[in-house]
Amino acid sequence: MFAKINSSYLYGISGVGVEVECDVSSYGLPSFSIVGLGDNAIKESKDRVKSALKNLDYNYFNHPITINLAPADMKKEGSHFDLPIAISILKAQGVIERNTDDFLILGELSLDGTLRSVTGVLSMVEYAAINNINKIILPKGNVEEAALIPEVEVYGFSSLLEVISFLRGDEIFSPYIRDYESRAEQSVLYEADFKDVRGQFQARRAAEISASGMHNFIMIGSPGSGKTMIARRMPSILPPMTLQESLESTKIHSVAGLIKDSGSLIKKRPFISPHHTSSNIAIIGGGSKASPGNVSLASGGILFLDEMLEFSRSVLEVLRQPMEDRYVTIARAGRTVTYPAKFMLIGAMNPCPCGYLGDSRKQCTCTQNMIERYRAKLSGPMLDRIDLISKVEAVEYKDLMDIKEGESSDIIRERVIKAHEIQNMRFKDENILFNSEMNESMVRKYCILEDDALKTMETAMNKYNISARSYSKILKTSRTIADMAESDKIKKIHILEALSMKLPDNQL
Ligand SMILES: Nc1ncnc2c1ncn2[C@@H]1O[C@H](COP(=O)(O)OP(=O)(O)O)[C@@H](O)[C@H]1O
Ligand SMILES: [Mg+2]
Ligand SMILES: [Zn+2]
Repeated sequence: MFAKINSSYLYGISGVGVEVECDVSSYGLPSFSIVGLGDNAIKESKDRVKSALKNLDYNYFNHPITINLAPADMKKEGSHFDLPIAISILKAQGVIERNTDDFLILGELSLDGTLRSVTGVLSMVEYAAINNINKIILPKGNVEEAALIPEVEVYGFSSLLEVISFLRGDEIFSPYIRDYESRAEQSVLYEADFKDVRGQFQARRAAEISASGMHNFIMIGSPGSGKTMIARRMPSILPPMTLQESLESTKIHSVAGLIKDSGSLIKKRPFISPHHTSSNIAIIGGGSKASPGNVSLASGGILFLDEMLEFSRSVLEVLRQPMEDRYVTIARAGRTVTYPAKFMLIGAMNPCPCGYLGDSRKQCTCTQNMIERYRAKLSGPMLDRIDLISKVEAVEYKDLMDIKEGESSDIIRERVIKAHEIQNMRFKDENILFNSEMNESMVRKYCILEDDALKTMETAMNKYNISARSYSKILKTSRTIADMAESDKIKKIHILEALSMKLPDNQL
């Protein structure tokens, strides 16, 4: 007998359709083979399916059973094929008779038939919705995540036995009902607010420019000057995520196995702060499951490299490609997957190895040689990809309490949203959203300088030997500064401010 079940697998963060086909012959020696799965996955899945079915007294393994996961030419990963494989065997044997064409089935089995939650559910359920497969069967732990897609009916189960009773009609189960109303009302609350940052006008200004044009931004200052404090507050001044951004971010986290059972939509812009000992794979993605790395988890939000120069040189180098392309491609065992990597890079670093170069509180103890070697780690190509550099000078401790609270994140965010709207209008016919994303021809088209602004720029070019890449970074930043002032043309003051945040004498 032959049977077929709809399932899905992940290609990057996209769900792709898979038909689990089962053929059980009446004649022949006992065998159980699966084609179309990755090598390691096959063995494990076989053991689980066999044991789970035998434990329910469905022992058909004295017949030849062949499972094909079509299309078979793509090797698939994932323990979530256990349940559709088991169901296909039961269908082929006539235990389940109903038509299952309108169901998508996913789930990992334990040996005793209990269902275990799986990763990447949102992407796979989205595939189902797009392809008019409108009922989903999956483990209970995944129902909330699946129900983020409103077009489908989601049925959550805790065991294979329950799924069988449901499909045989022995027992009635109702689809999961999501409480959309109350969830929609939940607004995003950020724990940390810019009002806590006292003084620091220059760094606060740089932070606002950075958020307004989604520019990469580095802070340089001695320990305790407030760099980490400012970075942690960056998500709170960015606009709320659009539904599309939220869904994409949730898919990435789901594929990485980081969505908890509550499965709610990610609405807060990610703030990912890897430790400086992190490996290339942790940062970029990869490993045995080709999982998304920090650059993808940070997509839609911020990748914060605290103590940036403590990261290995190779990590700083592998970051360059996703910073440029806004996605990352991971190759593994003949398979390549692509994940989004639309993050804003924020870095914090000390000005020298001891940390106190230029500090009024403490003397720097580093030699010139030490300082040069330290700075060399931030290679030219990396620096070229940074739009804004701000010095952060420590506010004297005794002064901190006397300075009044800073502007709150709510107020700054309103202005940032306005600047974003101007950019979204400008780029409505281009494939980008923000000034920082402009390519060379867009820079020429949209960065129109007033005459004296142009002269200032030319003088600076000659005087500071600015690279072509830095030149266009400066123009993009000045475009953002002009947008913040609601100025159509870029004026001299805009260029001067952009230059002050990029020039070599301000760099380190
Ligand atoms: N401008 C400031 N306003 C308020 N508190 C500050 C400021 N600068 C530093 N602090 C205090 O000092 C602590 C250390 O700052 P931190 O951001 O960790 O410094 P850094 O990362 O530059 O070493 C902060 O948590 C905060 O309590
Ligand atoms: Mg710090
Ligand atoms: Zn020093």
